[in-house]
Amino acid sequence: MQENEVATRLDAARAYARAGQELILSRISGPARSLGVDTKTSITDMVTDVDRAVEKLLAGSIREDFEHDKIVGEEFGDGGGDGPYAWVVDPIDGTTNFIYGFPAYAISIAVRDLRRDTTVCGVVLDVPRDRLYEAAEGKGAYVDGRRISVTSRSRLAESLIGTGFGYAAEVRRAQGAMVSEILPLIRDIRRAGAASLDLCMVACGELDGYYESGLWPWDFMAGAIIVEEAGGTVTGGLEPTPGAAMTIATNGIIHEQLRELVLSLAAKYGARS
Ligand code: IPD
Ligand code: CA
Repeated sequence: MQENEVATRLDAARAYARAGQELILSRISGPARSLGVDTKTSITDMVTDVDRAVEKLLAGSIREDFEHDKIVGEEFGDGGGDGPYAWVVDPIDGTTNFIYGFPAYAISIAVRDLRRDTTVCGVVLDVPRDRLYEAAEGKGAYVDGRRISVTSRSRLAESLIGTGFGYAAEVRRAQGAMVSEILPLIRDIRRAGAASLDLCMVACGELDGYYESGLWPWDFMAGAIIVEEAGGTVTGGLEPTPGAAMTIATNGIIHEQLRELVLSLAAKYGARS
């Protein structure tokens, strides 16, 4: 029964993401690329009319199809019903990339079972690359229907690691100091600009690991189940589960090496972990 409830929601999440993608593509394909850019918490933290329109579209469909489910969205906050499932939605993860046309932004949709406080399925649609990543609890992770898995690299020194930076200047200063110490100890660093895609890159072996502090649930929840179902590990820093303080996702093998390093540097530079 619950399995059916999850499968129905995963099918719906896929369809909603595709509808969101169509809306985004229709807004950037016209002659005048007018996105309606605003700022939020700082001049670096941007939002567009398209982010809001996509979230409205997704929330409207969820409300129509699953009237009792709760909805948590980046742009409009909480809504929906008080049933046992919650949809956690980022209409555009990687808004800065979207505004510049830098090809790394995604629609991220996770479904949580609130009775168990766990994510039961997730979809991340890489809009410019047209790749749909998905996972459901216990069912594996897929991109465009093909099964994916994490890398088997075992040495941090040979690992390609992704990260990201927050929008507040003082947070970035500490994050930059940490990266400057991590960089000489690893193969190289990547900052693609969309946390959900960073996680999917770990899931499909395009990165060995990823860490970032200051993420919101809509940034990491769908990507986290995709990493886990691809055989990887996702934790916080000091906490066992990822959260606002820290998200660390790896192939599992290098997890403790990366976690220890990140924790020691976060302590040194007074960053959250
Ligand atoms: C941001 C992106 C970015 C990460 C930031 C997020 P947004 O999400 O995921 O890669 O570094 O922490 O806030 O604002 O583009 O939805
Ligand atoms: Ca966003």
